[in-house]
This record gives sequence, structure tokens and C-alpha cells, in this order.
Amino acid sequence: MKKILITGGAGFIGSHVVRLFVNKYPNIKIVNLDALTYAGNLENLRDVENQPNYQFVKGDIVDGDFILNLFKEHQFDGVIHLAAESHVDRSIENPMSFIQTNIVGTVNLLNAAKLIWKDNSENKRFYHISTDEVYGSLGDTGFFVEETSYDPRSPYSASKASSDHIVRAYHHTFDLPIVISNCSNNYGANQFPEKLIPLFINNICTNKPLPVYGKGENVRDWLFVEDHANAIDVIFHKGKNGDTYNIGGHNEWTNISLIHLLCKIMDKKLNRPEGESVKLISYVKDRAGHDMRYAIDSTKLQNELGWKPSLQFEEGLEKTVDWYLANEKWLNNVTSGEYQKFYEQQYVNR
Ligand code: NAD
Ligand code: DAU
Repeated sequence: MKKILITGGAGFIGSHVVRLFVNKYPNIKIVNLDALTYAGNLENLRDVENQPNYQFVKGDIVDGDFILNLFKEHQFDGVIHLAAESHVDRSIENPMSFIQTNIVGTVNLLNAAKLIWKDNSENKRFYHISTDEVYGSLGDTGFFVEETSYDPRSPYSASKASSDHIVRAYHHTFDLPIVISNCSNNYGANQFPEKLIPLFINNICTNKPLPVYGKGENVRDWLFVEDHANAIDVIFHKGKNGDTYNIGGHNEWTNISLIHLLCKIMDKKLNRPEGESVKLISYVKDRAGHDMRYAIDSTKLQNELGWKPSLQFEEGLEKTVDWYLANEKWLNNVTSGEYQKFYEQQYVNR
């Protein structure tokens, strides 16, 4: 049976990728490796945990010996690498865990793949999942294309850029079969409520302030997480060896207009008078080094591999709100403990 390692499968995007692969490919064994940091939550995968082609392994990609032994034991045919520290604000507070996981962890996986595939790398694939933040920040016009020069500006994006470079170096130097994708902002079910959309849904439900950084004029390009998972499936199976693909929704919103739309949907869903949630908006000090605008051109992926996003943002956002409202227990479970401490530090003392 073919075996694929998915790292970070208990996180937001990873759990959607694991679910898709486990259900769509019953003849492929999916091994989900995750350290279960604050962002990893096995509740995300309750519906697939008993499938015969699924296995969970708890482990840290920073532990090189452990990774090597795991690869020797399983002899993976493919790797889809999502495990990462992923929140920009946390990278500003504590860059070192980003350097460890995002750079050292990625190199450990590359070394292990290089070793087990050294005699036969045919039909093997190391797929590194990255972000559009590696390209830096755009002005009012233009888009990120695959050839855009890297210009990362936060410890998070710099750590992801560094890992992208190292993945490409292993391809050029050691012929490791790799593919990379750089995606824009994802939204959808199971996103940890430190990121804009789930944080604001949770705060509206609990009548807490909505902390808008700076003037709220920064622009992000939003993509529904299941569309990202489908793109990953397409790129993993059809992407060209050594290539990079940009993934995005052609769906740009300023933060403040997105927040207004979200408030409107929440008022409707919670049977509150229209305009109620907007009153919670509170402008706070801007994020240090806050990138102004991201926008992805995904023409290459659409033309060469035939992928396209399936949902309009308004529909996807409403679907996302419905999920959070129906999964109050999930939200309560993740907003306790460690997260609460971070919340105090990030917002209450701001
Ligand atoms: P997430 O923070 O929700 O999940 C990360 C997962 O990685 C968690 O399950 C965590 O436990 C695990 N992990 C962290 N450190 C680990 C370690 N040392 N060893 C093993 N597992 C570890 O992240 P996400 O938002 O799902 O992002 C997944 C990937 O996609 C990341 O590589 C991120 O850079 C990239 N990405 C995210 C977005 C987005 O909008 N969220 C957009 C583009 C790219
Ligand atoms: O572009 C892809 C990236 O998108 C991914 O690589 C990252 O992993 C992911 O976290 C995301 O990064 P952002 O920094 O864009 O996402 P975040 O949800 O943190 O913030 C979105 C925008 O909202 C950003 O301009 C900052 C702003 N913001 C965020 C928070 C959490 C606020 O105004 N207030 C907030 O409380």
C-alpha cells in the first residue's frame, strides 16, 4: 500500500487535507504526524480517526533522530508538509519557535526523505506547503506571481521563505523530487481563534471588543480552506517536479470591510438588531511591520492543472459562521488553557 506522510494534520488546513486524502484515497495509507502544539487538535479529525487507512503519530519535526526513524520504519512514498508555527503575532513575540519548527523541522524532513529515496526517487514527492507572505507586501496594484522576488518581513514569513529556499536547494543539489505552493489567507471550519475571522466570530458571540489593528485598511486575499485542500490534492498528483504554484481566491478585502460583512452575518445569525456587532469594533495599536496588501495571481495553477476556487466569499463566510455557531464545544475547548494566556498578553494588556 502506498504511504503518504502529512505533517501538521491536526491543525487547521492540515485536518482538511487529511480528511480529503483519507476519504478520497482508501488505497493510500495516510500517516498524520503532529506535535499537538496549542494549534493541533485531534478533535478536528474525529470523523476519520477510525478509518483503516489512517494513522496518527505524535511527534516533533524538530527531533531529527525521531524523524529519521519514522521515515525508515514507514518508507513513505510522499510527504505533504504543513506542520509549522503559523501565527504572525506569535512570531513577533517569540521568533525562536518559528526558526526551530519552520526551518530546522523542514530540514529534518528533507534529510530523511533524501536518505530513504537515495536509490530510487521515481514516483516520490516532497510537497512543501508555503505562504504568499514570503513575497512581502504589495502597493495598491499588482499581484504576486511565482517569479515575484522574495521579500519576507515578519519572523514568520522569513522562516517560511527560508524553508522554501532550502526545499528548492535540495531539489537542485540532490535531485530531491519536490513541489511547493504558496497560498493566500485561508478561512473556514477548525481555524484556531487567534486568526482574524474565528477570533472575531468568538468575540462577537461573547460580546468582547473586536481589536482592529491600525486603521483596518490592510488587504488580504481570502480562500476557503476546502478549496486550498483541493488545490493541494491537484498539485500533489499533477504538479511538475521542481515547480512552484501560487494558490489564491482572487478575493481581496480590506480588513475593515470584511469585518463589517462578518458583523452583518453575525447579527442575522444571532438574531441581534443590525448594527449591534459593529459597535464592538475597537481600533488598537497596529501590528509591528504589518504588511499592507497581499494578492495572488493563480493563473498558472488554473491554466496548467485546471484548479479553480469553488465558493464566493459571502457564501463561504456564512458557511464558516454556521460551523462555529454549531460547534460551540469545539470553540470552548480551544479557548481555554494556554490560549487564554496568549489572549491576555496579546489583547488585554495591549
Ligand atoms: P496551524 O497553526 O493551524 O497548524 C499547524 C499544525 O502544525 C498544528 O497541528 C501543530 O500542532 C503542528 N505543529 C507545529 N509545530 C510542530 C512541530 N514542531 N512538529 C510537528 N507538528 C507541529 O496552521 P495552518 O494555518 O493550518 O497552516 C498550515 C500550513 O499552511 C503552514 O505551513 C502555514 O505556513 C501554511 N499556510 C497557512 C495559511 C493560512 O491562512 N492559515 C495560508 C498559506 C499557507
Ligand atoms: O497570507 C497567508 C497567511 O495568512 C498565512 O501564511 C498565515 O499563517 C496566516 O496566519 C495568515 O496571516 P495574516 O497575518 O494575514 O492573518 P491574521 O488572521 O493574523 O490577520 C489577518 C489580517 O487581520 C491582518 O491584516 C491583521 C489583521 N488583524 C488580525 C488579528 C488577529 C486584526 O486587525 N486584528 C486581529 O486581532
